[in-house]
Amino acid sequence: MKNKILVTGGAGYIGSHTCIALHQAGYDIVVYDNLSNSSREAVNRVSSLIGQPIEFIEGDIRDAESLRQVFAEHQFFGVIHFAGLKAVGESVAQPLKYYDNNVSGTITLLEVMAEYDVKNLVFSSSATVYGDPERLPIDENSPRSCTNPYGQSKLTVEHILEDLAVSDESWNLIPLRYFNPVGAHPSGQIGEDPNDIPNNLMPYISQVAVGKLEKLSIFGNDYSTVDGTGVRDFIHVTDLAQGHVAALSYLEQQAVPVGFLPINLGTGKGTSVLELVTAFSEVSGEDIPYQFADRRAGDIASCYASADKAKDLLKWQAELSITEMCQDTWRWQSMNPNGYNAT
Ligand code: NAD
Ligand code: UFG
Repeated sequence: MKNKILVTGGAGYIGSHTCIALHQAGYDIVVYDNLSNSSREAVNRVSSLIGQPIEFIEGDIRDAESLRQVFAEHQFFGVIHFAGLKAVGESVAQPLKYYDNNVSGTITLLEVMAEYDVKNLVFSSSATVYGDPERLPIDENSPRSCTNPYGQSKLTVEHILEDLAVSDESWNLIPLRYFNPVGAHPSGQIGEDPNDIPNNLMPYISQVAVGKLEKLSIFGNDYSTVDGTGVRDFIHVTDLAQGHVAALSYLEQQAVPVGFLPINLGTGKGTSVLELVTAFSEVSGEDIPYQFADRRAGDIASCYASADKAKDLLKWQAELSITEMCQDTWRWQSMNPNGYNAT
């Protein structure tokens, strides 16, 4: 029998896709989520996709007692820690909420893990920790700096994990630095379901395509990039999910602890905003009306990963193309125009 994994934030966008990949790889999973940014319906759909009920606990990572009950009941090999808040703008308006949830919550989780001697952690970090990169592609040794509370919360957790690894050599702590996750499960049953108007590009494009939003604003057309619009490393969420399975499998194979081991999860390829709009329009057959607008505060021109470390250590690389990212997003969006709230 394979190891048992606690998945915090497992009802969310990336977590739900990763639950499927973990199940397919033979892991036992327990999902722990407070549903602050997700719905029970996502868990139900994951259960029906894998053909068996998922063990789901509604709880908050800041609640040590609730976590203790879960750890007392299950023998975990490790934790994949997705639970966190992720809206950059909201983090600027409500920094304490972000530090409390993302930083204090992670400290509580780590304390309970230590109590139960569970020392394997895969943490959702972000390419945002690289700030405005000095060089491209961005490798894991690039300097880190952040300009908003969300990014600071991720960077602070990384610092905490580094200090923890120094203090006690038995920890295995892998922050996976995601680039720009997009796409959905090929079934069209699960995908990204933003509250309100999306902040991120792909869900905005797909809501324009389906007719929920009128027009895309492209933030800046004067960057020094291929066509003046921002360039990002879009990665299909199912590839990203496989990256987590690869990280766990790597930890299972190690004879000695790895300490703090940050790894990028990206494709290594940059795509511009306009290139993504064109690809989505071709795939969906829908017009995507857009207008150019001012640059968005805090945005950088280009960001794409060096994906070598993941390939060398984890034997993982992204497989899916921009076309597949658009196809799967479109299937999810057109099958679920209102996300998980069917009306
Ligand atoms: P998401 O909001 O869909 O998922 C996060 C999940 O965590 C949600 O289900 C939410 O209900 C849960 N959660 C939040 N706070 C919690 C708490 N205190 N206790 C228990 N559960 C809690 O977001 P996502 O896109 O799936 O992102 C997952 C992780 O990856 C996050 O930590 C995010 O910061 C990080 N990340 C996301 C992106 C991205 O673009 N989506 C990029 C880089 C990093
Ligand atoms: N963009 C638009 N119009 C929109 C939305 C976005 O032109 O309506 C542009 C942005 O200006 C940027 C690009 O599309 O050039 C990508 O923007 P996203 O908001 O989709 O993604 P970001 O790269 O800004 O940030 C995302 C997550 C962060 C995460 C970062 C790195 O939102 O949380 O990727 O992983 F930290």
